[in-house]
Amino acid sequence: MHYFKKSLEQLKERGRYRSLTLSEGIDLTSNDYLGFRDHPKLREAALRAIESGIDLGSGGSRLLRGNHSAHEELEAFSAEFFGYERSLYFVTGFQANYALFTTLLTRHDVVLYDSLIHASVKDGIHAGHAKGVKVEHNDLNAYEDALKRFRDEAQQIFIAVESLYSMDGDFAPLQELYDLAQKYDAILIVDEAHATGVWGESGKGCAESLPRENLMTLHTCGKALGIAGGLVCASGNIIDTLINTARPFIYSTAPPPLQAVLVREAFRLVQSEEGKERRQRLHSICNNVKSQMGGAGSQIVPIILGEDSHAVFVASALQKAGFDIRAIRPPTVPEGSARLRLSLNADLDKEALDQFFVHLMPYLQDQAA
Ligand SMILES: Cc1ncc(COP(=O)(O)O)c(C=O)c1O
Repeated sequence: MHYFKKSLEQLKERGRYRSLTLSEGIDLTSNDYLGFRDHPKLREAALRAIESGIDLGSGGSRLLRGNHSAHEELEAFSAEFFGYERSLYFVTGFQANYALFTTLLTRHDVVLYDSLIHASVKDGIHAGHAKGVKVEHNDLNAYEDALKRFRDEAQQIFIAVESLYSMDGDFAPLQELYDLAQKYDAILIVDEAHATGVWGESGKGCAESLPRENLMTLHTCGKALGIAGGLVCASGNIIDTLINTARPFIYSTAPPPLQAVLVREAFRLVQSEEGKERRQRLHSICNNVKSQMGGAGSQIVPIILGEDSHAVFVASALQKAGFDIRAIRPPTVPEGSARLRLSLNADLDKEALDQFFVHLMPYLQDQAA
């Protein structure tokens, strides 16, 4: 017991202690990019489903009694929507990534992964059997060098990237990565967690226009879609392999059917005129912020402050001024790059954002001085 107390104290000394807080103030933190999580249409869908007697829990693993028509309907829809043969719904995006990387990649395989890839992918690779090779963030030459180096030793070679990076807010060069994957007969796995619903012609993500051959995408449902879960979209053989061998899928209770009903409804919203308008509103907020702060123009804007304790100090001052923005510290981001992660959403009004920048600027000027 003494050990835990001591290591918590060390975290406090290093400015890395974290605790749970309830949300307060203007939302500049959540991943609810389109404002769906309290949308009346989703509430109505929940009430309708409950009134029609939907089971509240699934009752078991999908392979036993836990499979429900709501899961199957969501999977059939999302396979078609994202343009794949099949899709599989997991209770969270983390579980989906973990299942994918621990199951599909064998000890004869190599996976090249971006240095800024999400923890769920890193953990899956770490726990799996394939050789993992970290590649410099978004560096196409480094990807090509690694493909040349490892192609012959690997039975299958995979490239794992995010389409929109969760902490840096920049986009992967997906077309170029896809071309490289084709050239070296590799399989590209794209985590669309932060792009689903927001980017692509119709909110299908940044990989929307890529051919589906040798491509797999992961779409989380707890961010712009406002609910929870993760959809793996791939060929029928890959989905059947996951159903037959993915331990996080087999040995875990299926998502509540209501969760699947609500995700399906969220997709209806994404496809609706309102969904399109919300996407456009968010894009225009992104463009305005880009003109002030620079960056990639996505809804995730990193404000790098360096020292952990400084990031915590600035976050806390902004929270006191009424803005819900949090400090992001290592190991979530690399050492020395503690930051605020400004997360934009379609409901933000201009005045609130202007006020936020008025409050933020003195800290940035201090830094520049
Ligand atoms: C890039 C990325 N992938 C996967 C996940 C995991 O998704 P979920 O929150 O649904 O578990 C996240 C969540 O933070 C993420 O940012």
